[in-house]
Amino acid sequence: TASKTWSQRFESALHPAIARFNASILFDIELIEYDITGSQAHAKMLAHTGIISPAEGEQLITGLEQIRQEYRQGQFHPGIDAEDVHFAVERRLTEIVGDVGKKLHTARSRNDQVGTDTRLYLRDRIDQIRSQLREFQGVLLNLAERNVETLIPGYTHLQRAQPVSLAHHLLAYFEMLERDWQRLGEIQKRTNISPLGSGALAGTTFPIDRHFTAKELHFDDVYGNSLDGVSDRDFAIEFLCAASLIMVHLSRMSEEIILWASQEFSFVKLKDSCATGSSIMPQKKNPDVPELVRGKTGRVFGHLQALLVLMKGLPLAYNKDLQEDKEALFDSVKTVIACLEAMTILMREGLEFNQNRLGEAVAEDFSNATDVADYLAARGVPFREAYNLVGKVVKTSLAAGKLLKDLSMAEWKELHPAFEADIYDAIAPQRVVAARNSYGGTGFDQVRQAIQRAKSRIA
Ligand code: ARG
Repeated sequence: TASKTWSQRFESALHPAIARFNASILFDIELIEYDITGSQAHAKMLAHTGIISPAEGEQLITGLEQIRQEYRQGQFHPGIDAEDVHFAVERRLTEIVGDVGKKLHTARSRNDQVGTDTRLYLRDRIDQIRSQLREFQGVLLNLAERNVETLIPGYTHLQRAQPVSLAHHLLAYFEMLERDWQRLGEIQKRTNISPLGSGALAGTTFPIDRHFTAKELHFDDVYGNSLDGVSDRDFAIEFLCAASLIMVHLSRMSEEIILWASQEFSFVKLKDSCATGSSIMPQKKNPDVPELVRGKTGRVFGHLQALLVLMKGLPLAYNKDLQEDKEALFDSVKTVIACLEAMTILMREGLEFNQNRLGEAVAEDFSNATDVADYLAARGVPFREAYNLVGKVVKTSLAAGKLLKDLSMAEWKELHPAFEADIYDAIAPQRVVAARNSYGGTGFDQVRQAIQRAKSRIA
């Protein structure tokens, strides 16, 4: 049965099904510690400004702390009748401290309260995700350092293009995660603004001190407009954008690992600790981790879409629709955290690069064809002309079942007199990679410099 939470204006209790429909307690319990912290700051401010007495302030703060302990010890289980975490805490507080508990909600609304809680929650989770990103970057960097001279085919259109250093490939992901880390830092700044004191929508008649509570709660600033303060969810949408991009990056990485682990590529072997089997095919070893990460990407994109649509038609100020922001946000946070954790483990200890196979892969194709053209161009042949010549030799070699390295000196000379014996060196995979020494390129010197830059960024 629903207890009456509303004012004397109401004659009868809520229909139980409506109470259930209306309630957010089953998920917003996630905010409880932030709700308590926010309420403690509010109580302190009420005492500081003389709206309640110092003794009353103390009682409220101590009672709230007791609820925190009860919750941590698994002894606080508010039900549907509490409606939401804010009511649940206030009700329990009044049980603990008596009538003074009823003073806590002076000069406050659940509207500015829930906005405060959600921002405090997200601020913390952003810290957590950023440190996970840093850890993951460290793992990639470590792997890169050990594989500067390991070569891997580089692709465009998923066709062999030019070989690259494996480290260079891994560092591309490092860069994506670096942008994710920075982006979250910027979003955190806009998240860290206090709506507390906006009241229900219009401010309050009490002489509150919004900067006092903001300081207590380590907010950087306060919302300058109370209507905006209680109804703005830009910060949550921005976070979901950033979370979506993190998932894009993890999903691209996942896709590559799935390809690499296939028998067709065989670039990596999955270690037993990070792979799964089949219930019927005994030979199978499946890349479930990257597949799940790739799959979970969809739900985070979905949450972003949900929140955009949720907001687009909302008139000012608070509307109950806003209660729907929470599951989208919480699930995205949990998904990103779980995916980052799993991918970090996978990259740290779950993969074994098949060095032999990689060595073969970069030697068995025509991905050094650009280098032949570059060789001629460096000796005065206009590049487009050289390009056409090499296209021709690729065609005849393919027909003859040969690679460029198999051509005899006579064949090279016939193609163009500028070819000398050093052409063999010039098209060897190590040389081909080393030679791409332009800034940001895959040349080994460049990659070593990139590793140094990356190191200093995460130091
Ligand atoms: N549970 C509500 C939410 O999540 C708290 C604010 C409710 N305010 C209101 N006026 N009904 O948004």
